[in-house]
Amino acid sequence: MTAHTEEMPRYRSVEGNAGIKEREHRAYLAIGPAIMMKFVAATTKPFNAPTTVSLNTIMIDGTGMCGGCRVPLADGAQFVCVDGPEFDGHKVDWSSLMSRLSFYKEKKRSR
Ligand code: FES
Repeated sequence: MTAHTEEMPRYRSVEGNAGIKEREHRAYLAIGPAIMMKFVAATTKPFNAPTTVSLNTIMIDGTGMCGGCRVPLADGAQFVCVDGPEFDGHKVDWSSLMSRLSFYKEKKRSR
């Protein structure tokens, strides 16, 4: 994972409304619920601001063998336990990931 420090390059974008002429963007790091990280990535994407998300998926063996933590990305699936947990938030297929995360929701409720 790339360290996010004050020395990181800043990215500029221009907005044409609300009196905001120019904003400065650094790289972003989002850690928390998947829905929050999804919207952080959606917010930063129009600015092309690098956004790293830290995914917390269902894990079974933690060795890359079971596939339980598979996360769909724009350039192919990866495993959170061995390839992550940090990923480019703009490459995550959020709807597929959210679906996987809710797979056991009903079983949890019935307990
Ligand atoms: S937890 Fe099994 S492959 Fe990651």
